[in-house]
Amino acid sequence: MAAETMIALHRLHRYFGATRAVDDVSFEVPRGVVFGYIGPNGAGKTTSMRILATLDLPTFGDAYVAGFSVVNDPDQVRRRLGYMPDSYGTYANVTCWEYLDFFARAYGLVGKQRRCAVERVIDFTGLRPLSEKPMTALSKGMKQRLCLGRALIHDPPVLVLDEPAAGLDPGARIELRDMIRQMADAGKTILVSSHILTELAEMCDRVAILMHGRLVAQGTVPEIQKCYEHVEDDAMSLLRIRVCGDVNRLREWFEQCDQYKVVSANEHTMTVFCPKNEERQAALLRELVLAGFPIVEFAPRATSLEDVFLKVTRGKAGI
Ligand SMILES: Nc1ncnc2c1ncn2[C@@H]1O[C@H](COP(=O)(O)OP(=O)(O)OP(=O)(O)O)[C@@H](O)[C@H]1O
Ligand SMILES: [Mg+2]
Repeated sequence: MAAETMIALHRLHRYFGATRAVDDVSFEVPRGVVFGYIGPNGAGKTTSMRILATLDLPTFGDAYVAGFSVVNDPDQVRRRLGYMPDSYGTYANVTCWEYLDFFARAYGLVGKQRRCAVERVIDFTGLRPLSEKPMTALSKGMKQRLCLGRALIHDPPVLVLDEPAAGLDPGARIELRDMIRQMADAGKTILVSSHILTELAEMCDRVAILMHGRLVAQGTVPEIQKCYEHVEDDAMSLLRIRVCGDVNRLREWFEQCDQYKVVSANEHTMTVFCPKNEERQAALLRELVLAGFPIVEFAPRATSLEDVFLKVTRGKAGI
């Protein structure tokens, strides 16, 4: 028997004037699945997640949580859904415990039941040593945990997490990933958005890629990788180059060459689309060294979810 569908978007549309923030998006997430929602800035992730959380209404179409419509049954949806927004306020003179207790009250929990709910969340999120600290004293990572705790306070079967890993250090991301997997193993259904695509690859059972409000791909990570292999320009691949010192001169050098396209660059490292041919790559390395660039790394990148994302969105995103 097919697993119960816990999240469903049916032809969801949300327009803001002429902006089609969400433009005919449909997908379903079965119980116990972690579903990754990937897209560049402005793709429509937050807009669709806010609709699921009943904070906004669709222009057209509907979304369902455990079978309840966000349009017709928002109260039923709220009982079953925990939402972690991408930004949240901090309240002065409120401790972590008080903050969670407040939301437990808002969900109508009383007496022992409420105390147990707060204790359970404090233990799960590892906030016990901080439970009496004021919220304003928390670091970014601790606040993220508290916000996740808030989403969990009424023990909902469905979680919608908008970029929960943003701003976390690698250790905290691993802890978050483990918490998400643990919750899925306990039967919760989780929709999680992120720009950190490699992180999603490890924690998600399925992913959907959103671009300009439209779904451009969805499936398991291996399915999407397979599906887009043949779409990839066979003659090109991604190459990661790291230099000792500033990357700007190297970027300028590449920008003057038609056959390469700079995909991304940070302080010391850049990624370029370049011909796949190994002789050509060896010739490129020789050329760069002769041009005086202090290369410390020169590596064709293995296909990751991030590469798939770049392939899928290339052209449309101007990459
Ligand atoms: N309240 C609003 N009024 C007008 N336009 C809006 C509003 N909210 C979102 N938009 C527009 O809708 C589009 C989708 O925005 P959204 O915040 O959903 O994207 P996102 O995928 O969450 O992006 P990011 O990765 O930056 O968080 C954008 O073009 C944005 O400018
Ligand atoms: Mg967003």
